[in-house]
Parts: sequence; structure tokens; C-alpha cells
Amino acid sequence: MSIVYLEDKKIFKLDTAGSTYVIAVDDDNFLLHLYYGAPIPDVNLTDFANRCRYASFSATIPSRDGTDFSPDTWPMEIGCNGCADMRIASLQIRNADGNAATDVRYVSHRIIPGKPALPGLPALYSECEGDCETLEIKTLDKTTGAEVTLLYTVFTREAAMTRSVIIRNTSEKPFEIERVMSFCLDMNNADYDLISLYGRHNQERLFERRALAHGVQGISSRRGSSSHSQNPFIALIQKGGNEDWGDAYGFNLVYSSNFTAQCEVDFNRSTRVIMGINPDDFGWTLAPGESFYSPEAVLVYSNAGLGEMSRTFHRLYNHNLVRGEWKHKKRPLLVNNWEGTGMTFDDEKLVQIAAWAKETGLEMFVMDDGWFGRRDDDTSSLGDWYVNETKLRGGISSLIARVKALGLKFGIWYEPEMISPDSDVYRAHPDWCVHVPNRDRSLGRHQCVMDMTRADVRDYLFEQMSSVLANNEIDYLKWDFNRNITEAGSALLPPERQKEFYHRFILGTYELMDRITTAFPHLLMENCSGGGGRYDPGMMYFSPQIWCSDNTDALSRVDIQFGSSLCYPASVQGAHVSASARSGYETKRNVAMWGTFGYELDPAKISEEAREEIKTQIADFHRYYDTIHYGDLYRLISPWDDPYKCAWEFVNEDRSQAIVTYLSKFYTERQNWFLRLKGLDAGAEYRLTKTGEVYSGALLMRAGISMYRYPVADGDSAMLCFEKI
Ligand code: GLA
Repeated sequence: MSIVYLEDKKIFKLDTAGSTYVIAVDDDNFLLHLYYGAPIPDVNLTDFANRCRYASFSATIPSRDGTDFSPDTWPMEIGCNGCADMRIASLQIRNADGNAATDVRYVSHRIIPGKPALPGLPALYSECEGDCETLEIKTLDKTTGAEVTLLYTVFTREAAMTRSVIIRNTSEKPFEIERVMSFCLDMNNADYDLISLYGRHNQERLFERRALAHGVQGISSRRGSSSHSQNPFIALIQKGGNEDWGDAYGFNLVYSSNFTAQCEVDFNRSTRVIMGINPDDFGWTLAPGESFYSPEAVLVYSNAGLGEMSRTFHRLYNHNLVRGEWKHKKRPLLVNNWEGTGMTFDDEKLVQIAAWAKETGLEMFVMDDGWFGRRDDDTSSLGDWYVNETKLRGGISSLIARVKALGLKFGIWYEPEMISPDSDVYRAHPDWCVHVPNRDRSLGRHQCVMDMTRADVRDYLFEQMSSVLANNEIDYLKWDFNRNITEAGSALLPPERQKEFYHRFILGTYELMDRITTAFPHLLMENCSGGGGRYDPGMMYFSPQIWCSDNTDALSRVDIQFGSSLCYPASVQGAHVSASARSGYETKRNVAMWGTFGYELDPAKISEEAREEIKTQIADFHRYYDTIHYGDLYRLISPWDDPYKCAWEFVNEDRSQAIVTYLSKFYTERQNWFLRLKGLDAGAEYRLTKTGEVYSGALLMRAGISMYRYPVADGDSAMLCFEKI
């Protein structure tokens, strides 16, 4: 059993494959957090509860045993607003009396096999019987009738758990949820560094590490998407911890809209971590009898540094998040026309690219932006999802037939949540666009946003898309989202519900994605948002791959891929070779192989030599596919540790193959240095396929391979493959 309730002590002990989490119910029915970390047995767990019960200036509340007790000084499973816990709150409900004092206490619990789904929300799921178990703890605020259920799912094969919250209104009057975090975690010290992934368009998910300090610190998004600026991921790592050593805790929100992740170090030097929907511009009115589901957060613990934390996320997401037919099916090697042609193309041009793709050994042609309405540039036509027959003479069916006749799969681009002011649909339905009355509608890339909170808008989009998808043999869909949301309001929501806009918007998007993936189960979806602006587990639930960044320059892309790998597996990482100038085709390939792999260029614009080189690149993709997509990643030298060079390694499950890539970013003198590999079988021997030389696993890991023999020029890279003998 992974979850046990020790009835005599009123303690819950939740064990994953590599962590223990302990909760107690105290005499006053508060839910207290006792421990989260490396596995521990059930011996004297109550010792955790030997703490000072109050501090001066921490208000106390009446306690059943007559001693003073302040929730302010105790680790709590829910941080309630306004009743003696002065730290950043995880729950705040404004009740019918107008105040926001919130106080929930334990009522009951149940332990169930597997994992219940969260209505309308993406979430991890049970892949097979016995891989997870769930604890539901019901609590109640007696004054307001808010019933708050905490969900904890514990995975038996990984050191991972998920947490979420359900709020039900059991009273006779409506109340307003002002803040609901998906989890609250009170750690008993502050000896951690906070890691987060910041960025911008073309530079997503760059690694940042800072020491925790007293007060509140963290990251958030208010952009209506998880965003390029901050990814909904943070980690806490023990001071001095690194890739291989130290307690590391990773937190990732399965959500694609406004989020917050905050840590507060208080006067006791304890650290509260919360993560959930951003409470800025959020509110949700809950009528009697209604329920609200928070998005889910994923918690991963590693006692061996960041490397193991990342590998746990990767395995977990490959098994328990990514879904559908393409989950484990080999994804087609594609060419996309975007970087090669932009929107300037016609059917002949596309068929030319497809013909080259076939001849080169690629498997799918993807037609990007520009095929619909009157779209020749980015100023028009989003929302008019009918084919532009001036460009595609004979219509889309004729183009698809020609591509299929070559023996290739066919993919198409959409940006369903967007609407161009210069479009037929906007002229017919100006209120379908996200806006607020009497204010300008700001533009991003000349476009507005469709009001996804509206069922009529979603129905329109579903009909438009399915008329193309149902009548044509389309294998792949790239779903884009190329601006953030402003003037967030819907013409249909009453004033008191406008605060629900952002959350309703993303629920609407999820609903449409669900309808499309259910109606067209064979479709391979690739998400995108100006590259990686919605690179989050919410989107990964619908699309097994996401375009990682519009930046296809290998030398800077590599930093984005290192950052992304903190919690996202290579199997979801959209990465292509493009014609971008800074490095040679070998390096472009070596970097793009750390992902779904493909090409994004116009073959007519590259040299004959480059075309020949590309032909030779493809065999390795097939040879290494499983190891890279589903193997263990080791960040051997990370850009945040070394500005000059980096190296990464994939090892397959039975440790019979290791693919090592080394990249020199800036001029590094040819010098003596040894690259130590990781994750091999120390007792085995490995052949380096490039030279045929044999090395022991022990030597490769303990002494390292001499890189003096594999010099690479500034901006170049080398890929070495080791195979077990
Ligand atoms: C976004 C995507 C690109 C491409 C363009 C098309 O920027 O990230 O890959 O699809 O839109 O407009």
C-alpha cells in the first residue's frame, strides 16, 4: 500500500517509489504537514509534531487541549487566509457576509485505487493497474459551508505525486473563491535555492537559480497563457546541490493559463511553497451545490540532485501524461515549409518541397501558416478557415492527394483561438473577439483573440476545423497561439463573472482540443505558441509534442533545450534543422536530434552539398530514436555551469546504447580534458561506433573519455555513440 492511515496517531503516510509524505490530523482537526522527502519508515512520526505551538505576535486560536495554538507557526496542508496564519495563503474564499476569513478543518477521508479525472482539466492519469493510488481528504469551513477536498495521488513507480483541490459550496448562499492554490507545502527550513525557467519569444525556459530569502519570492504569468516569460515550473534544491547531489523538489502545474508559484520564507525560517491559478484578476462565484476544480500540480522529489528529478519527470510524463495513439508510436520525420517560404507559396512550391522530402527519406510534409482565407501576410484572415484557392489551386484535397501520391503523410497549421480584425468572421461577429466595452482592442501580431469562453465560438471553430479534417486525409495538426490576452472580457459574461474570464478561456480551449482529439484520434497534434509560449503539461496532455521555440539557431537553441529538460522529456520537444546561418548542418542536426526532429527549410534555397548532407543524417535519427525519446537524459555540462561548451547524453533503458553530444559554443582551445559519462553499466564494455575502440563502462564514467581526440571548431559539435558489447 502506498497510502496508509495510522488511525491511532491520526497520521497519513504517503509513499512513492522514492519519497515519503506525512500529514497529521491534530486534536482541533487542523491538517498539519509533517514531512516530505526521502523515504522514512513509520517509526515515531509523531515526533515531527514536537514544535513550539505559538510565537509572540502570532495570534492563537482556542485549542481543544487548552494550550495556545497558532497556525502561523505550524506547517499546514492548507494555508487559510485571515484566521491566524499570516503567511501567503493557499485558500481564500469571500463569503456571503463579505469577509474573506477562511478556516477549514478535517472531516473525513478515503483512499482509492488509481486516480480520478479532473472534469474539464488536463491531468496525469493511471497508465496501468497499481501504478498509483489516491487519498482524498475532505475538510469543511463550518462558518461558510465551503467543503474543500484535497486530492493526493501517489505514484508507485516514480518519486512523484500530484495534488489538487476541489471546492464545493454546501451552503445556501453563493460565495466567491478569490484564491485556490493547487497545493501548499510548508518545509521546515529555508536552506534551498529556487530554480525557475524564464525567457521571452525565441529564448524560452532559460535556467535561473537564486537563494531563497526572507519574504515572498516567485514567478507568475498574467498573460492568459503559461507564457514565454515564465514556465509553470519551479524547483527547490538543497544549498550546494547539483545535477547529482542534494535534495531536489520539482513542482510543475498542469495548466496553460495565468499561474503563480511563490515561496515564502517566514520568521521561523520555514518555507511555504504554493502554486496554482494566479489570483490576480481571478475570482469564481460558486453557487450552492456547485463545485470548482483547481488544476493539478505535479511534485517530484529526488535525493540525488536535479538530474534524477528531471529523469523522473520525463518518465512520468511519457507514461502518465502524454496520451493517444502517438504516445509510444514512432513520430514521422517531417519537413515544415514555414522557415523556407513563410506565407509566400502555392501548391507547386509545396509539392516541390514534398518531393524533395520524399527523395531525402523524410516521412511527412507539413503546410504551415498562409493556406486559408486571403492570408498573404499576418494582417488578415485568422478565423476564416477555408482554403485560399488562389494559392492552392484545385483546393486542399488536390494538394493532399499529390503529397500522398508521393508516399508522405500530410500535416496542416491552425491558430484556432485567434481572429484577425480583417477577416470575414470578425466582420460578421465583432463580439466573438475578447474585449471589454468602451476600450480599444489591443493587437498582437495584428490579431485579436477569439472568445473561447463562448460555446457558439467553440462550435464555429469545431465545425470549420472538422469540415477540413473530416474530408481530407490529414495526419498532423500544428495548433498555434501567437499572442497574449489583453482587455480580458467576454460579451456574454455578466459583470460579476468577468473575473472568471481567464480560467473560462482556457477551459474553453481545453474543451475544443478535447473535441478535436476525440473526433480525430489518428491526428498527431503539435502545440505551438510563437514557439514555446505554451510549453506546459496542460498542453502536453492534448499534444504529444510542442514546438519548443521559433529559435532554430543551434547555438542558442541548446540553452532553451537544456532549460526545458528540467522537467519536460525529449519526446515532446519539437526541434528542427533549419537553414539558419550560424552553424553547420552537422551541429544543427545534433541539436535537433534532442527532440522530435525534422527539417524546416526550402530545399531550393540551400546548397547541393547541404542537401546531400541531409540525406546522410536521417539514418542516425532512426538508429537513436528510442534512446533519445525514451531513454535517460544526463546533462553532462550545462550552459548554466559553463558558458563555453555543453554536453548531454542519452542512455537507453537497458544501458546498451549511449548517445553523447558535445558542443563548443565559443572558442575553446584544443586542450586536455576528459568528459565523464553517466548512467552506463560500470561492469560492461562499450564500443565507440565512430572508431571501433572499446572502453569499459567504469572508465567512461570514472575517468572519462579524452576529448582532446575529438576537437570541434567554434560553434561545432560532435556526437558519439557507445554500444555495449
Ligand atoms: C508561430 C510559430 C511558427 C509559425 C508561425 C506562423 O510563430 O511558432 O512556427 O507557425 O507562427 O505564423
